[in-house]
Amino acid sequence: MWKVGKTGNKTANPLKILVTGACGFVGSTLIQGLLESQSLFGGPLEIVGLDNFSRPGSKQNEPRLEKLGVDFRRGDIRQPDDLANLPAVDWVLDCAANPSVLAGATKDSSSRELIDNNLIGTINLLEQCKKHKSGFLLLSTSRVYSIPPLASLSMLTTNDAFALDTATSLPPGISDDGISESFFTTPPLSLYGASKLTSETLALEYGHCFDFPVWINRCGVLAGAGQFGRVDQGIFSFWINSHLRRAPLRYLGFNGSGYQTRDCLHPNDLLQLLAKQIQTSSKTIPPICNLGGGPTNAMSLKQLTSWCNDRFGTHYVESTPETRSFDLPWVVMDAQLARDLWDWEAQTPLTSILEEIASHAEAHPNWITISNPTSKT
Ligand SMILES: NC(=O)c1ccc[n+]([C@@H]2O[C@H](COP(=O)([O-])OP(=O)(O)OC[C@H]3O[C@@H](n4cnc5c(N)ncnc54)[C@H](O)[C@@H]3O)[C@@H](O)[C@H]2O)c1
Repeated sequence: MWKVGKTGNKTANPLKILVTGACGFVGSTLIQGLLESQSLFGGPLEIVGLDNFSRPGSKQNEPRLEKLGVDFRRGDIRQPDDLANLPAVDWVLDCAANPSVLAGATKDSSSRELIDNNLIGTINLLEQCKKHKSGFLLLSTSRVYSIPPLASLSMLTTNDAFALDTATSLPPGISDDGISESFFTTPPLSLYGASKLTSETLALEYGHCFDFPVWINRCGVLAGAGQFGRVDQGIFSFWINSHLRRAPLRYLGFNGSGYQTRDCLHPNDLLQLLAKQIQTSSKTIPPICNLGGGPTNAMSLKQLTSWCNDRFGTHYVESTPETRSFDLPWVVMDAQLARDLWDWEAQTPLTSILEEIASHAEAHPNWITISNPTSKT
């Protein structure tokens, strides 16, 4: 919290923030944004960054962080000893996780590892918060919402994209503005979603028991330059990089239509909100809110292909009608609560996010291989 002296004057002590997953896409983007917008926080920031480089490509963000003056440590949130050696901080911003919805559920990934990273790691961080009375900011996800009711929503098709059919009876907590916080969170959610929902619950319990502030931001798809893109995570980056490099692309599921639709948010649009959350001392504001680009920043894969065709020239996309267990036709976040509570609004238009990824892709010819070293392309 911004330190206020006995006279009420702000002291010059910097606000110390530990960012975990510092070398990941969201962690590194937010660190740069935090350091460029220190005035939002009312004074200087000191950032400690932690990452174990488990994400392929993440190591290349280390020099950038060092140039920014970040106190970077290689370490693992699963290891209490790695955390015990860190300096005490005012806030922990948790961006370290395995963020794929398929993680732990496929034969080439370990469920135990997913839980260790996403849940045990969070508990270790909460123990640190308890020890130092630090506040905790969790980047959670739209994947905490139940799969079956989302998978069975009635869809209309407009302009090559799915849209919610609001003429049918809808479950509570959903409208054409998106999914709100009151939507079901009963399993099945995916192991990833369950690891995040359980992290949310434990974070709130720790905050309550040990009297430190906790804010939980459930984000829809985050995207921007420098995102490590794979089919299972970072789809906008994967698609744009693959299209530019003429790598094979396939529409999976939904009869191979490519109509599956997601809204998209730039991580920098979180900065103002984080600044407000860090600086509030209110204990009455609901701690969980949804954040996303909303209906105006939503796009289907087929529409994304069309955007890429205009930008890079036509590239053929194959169709594979097979369905996969975690496929959802339409995920758009309703951020009305964040607007009401925090006066928050997504700022970056979808086309600017796509253009930013495209420019980055042009400047980094090997980005697909860096993001996924086992890829054949
Ligand atoms: N990208 C999205 O669309 C999105 C959407 C909603 C929520 N989130 C959340 O945002 C956070 C960051 O996601 P991202 O897209 O930047 O992913 P990312 O994979 O790019 O970054 C995660 C970083 O955490 C590090 N990490 C993983 N396990 C670790 C461990 N045990 N110890 C230390 N470091 C570890 C990785 O090396 C990587 O650098 C995650 O918590 C994710 O659940 C992301």
